[in-house]
Amino acid sequence: MQRILLANALNATEAQSSVTLCGWIRTRRDAKDFSFVEINDGSCLDNMQCIVDAGTAAHDALGSASTGAAIRVEGELVPSPGKGQRWEVRARTIEVYGKADPETFPLQKKRHSDEFLRSIAHLRTRTNKYGATFRIRSEASLAVHEFFHSRGFFWIHTPILTGSDCEGAGEMFRVTILEPGEKDITKDFFGRRSNLTVSGQLEAEALATGLGRVYTFGPTFRAENSNTPRHAAEFWMIEPEMAFADLNDLMDLGESLTRHVVEHILTHCEPDLKLFDNFVDKGLIARLKNMLATPFARVTYAEAVDILQKCGKDFAYPVSFGTDLQTEHERFLAEEHFKKPVAVFNYPKEIKAFYMRQNDDGKTVAAMDMLVPRIGELIGGSQREERLDKLEKRICELGQNPQDYWWYLDLRRFGTVPHCGFGLGFERLLMMLTGINNIRDVIPFPRTPGNLEF
Ligand code: 4AD
Ligand code: MG
Repeated sequence: MQRILLANALNATEAQSSVTLCGWIRTRRDAKDFSFVEINDGSCLDNMQCIVDAGTAAHDALGSASTGAAIRVEGELVPSPGKGQRWEVRARTIEVYGKADPETFPLQKKRHSDEFLRSIAHLRTRTNKYGATFRIRSEASLAVHEFFHSRGFFWIHTPILTGSDCEGAGEMFRVTILEPGEKDITKDFFGRRSNLTVSGQLEAEALATGLGRVYTFGPTFRAENSNTPRHAAEFWMIEPEMAFADLNDLMDLGESLTRHVVEHILTHCEPDLKLFDNFVDKGLIARLKNMLATPFARVTYAEAVDILQKCGKDFAYPVSFGTDLQTEHERFLAEEHFKKPVAVFNYPKEIKAFYMRQNDDGKTVAAMDMLVPRIGELIGGSQREERLDKLEKRICELGQNPQDYWWYLDLRRFGTVPHCGFGLGFERLLMMLTGINNIRDVIPFPRTPGNLEF
């Protein structure tokens, strides 16, 4: 089939005697002499208007096909006299692939609530908003790969099935082939406990200490029972890891990556972004542009605590040195105080993971979180403890057995090197880019506590 995409047809430079387009009917209006049928094939936000003259074979073939039906249209691409589009198609032949019963097809209205659309996640990509969301998701992925590729990072693939708990938080999905009640772990598939990865970091460190600069970009799983608009049980994380680099290099990397993706989306996704700017989050485009206007802010955790204590705001959770920052604190810092993304660094070691590099003050570690307006934490990372003795001691302090980390410790035993990395939550980045305020709406089939319908 000589089919062309709507995105190309709508950008045609001249009329064409014959084009073939396929798509789903978005609207149909019937007049006495002809029918107007608008179709969309997902390749872009705009629809193509097709005119089907009454009494023709094409009109007969169209039959009663209505909103939601899948069709093929062949005809002449001509300049449109109507407002709002440059081209339209005068249909010559039509084939209906699949009808959609107007009595039961759920996407009849122009606008539906996000909650309703979540309940029909298998169909929601046929709406303007979700089509735009998943096009931006694809484009942002491309921008991420482009960014790392141009800086000499290799894309690596770390395991999804693992035996370790990278974050030490115990929020893991267990994977087992044992029947319920069967307790002998040696009979399980791997002969030991296994789970879905919460982070590819430990393996990324192994590859970075051979390849130099690497990144992962893949699915990550957390069984944390937090029903918030920013947490999903399955999400995609981007985890760069670089050898011969310190915390400042890492903050630079997080900032340039974020800026690169914002810039790429502003340049390549204008029609989709305008939809979000108009209907989801007024002022989105101006805010994204503004983000690029000045460097992001940086403060130590101690300074951040000071700001929060002196700001006079009544937080639900009080802050003092040693407490973990809550979303309300993170959002205040980025949204109201700095009014732009801010990297907070040098956190107390007690609230951070075992692998973070210990600072000379004995209290803090070389960690950094990048906080952004409306979301809070977008990036979490650190310089890694590359000194064998200090790392072993920390593992013991946390009540763990260094033996369990033998290969991770080998990286310190043989040719250890200062290195660092972070994790960026891809869905949170998409929330920032689209103004969508629920993580369930930027991933095609969200997994959250109690939800596994699709
Ligand atoms: O801060 P986190 O837990 O860091 C790590 O896992 C490190 N091992 C990463 C590294 O250094 N390589 O997670 C990193 C980011 C968070 O900043 C957040 O954006 C996102 O992953 N994230 C989630 N996104 C959606 N749903 C969840 N449940 C998330 N948990 C973390
Ligand atoms: Mg974190």
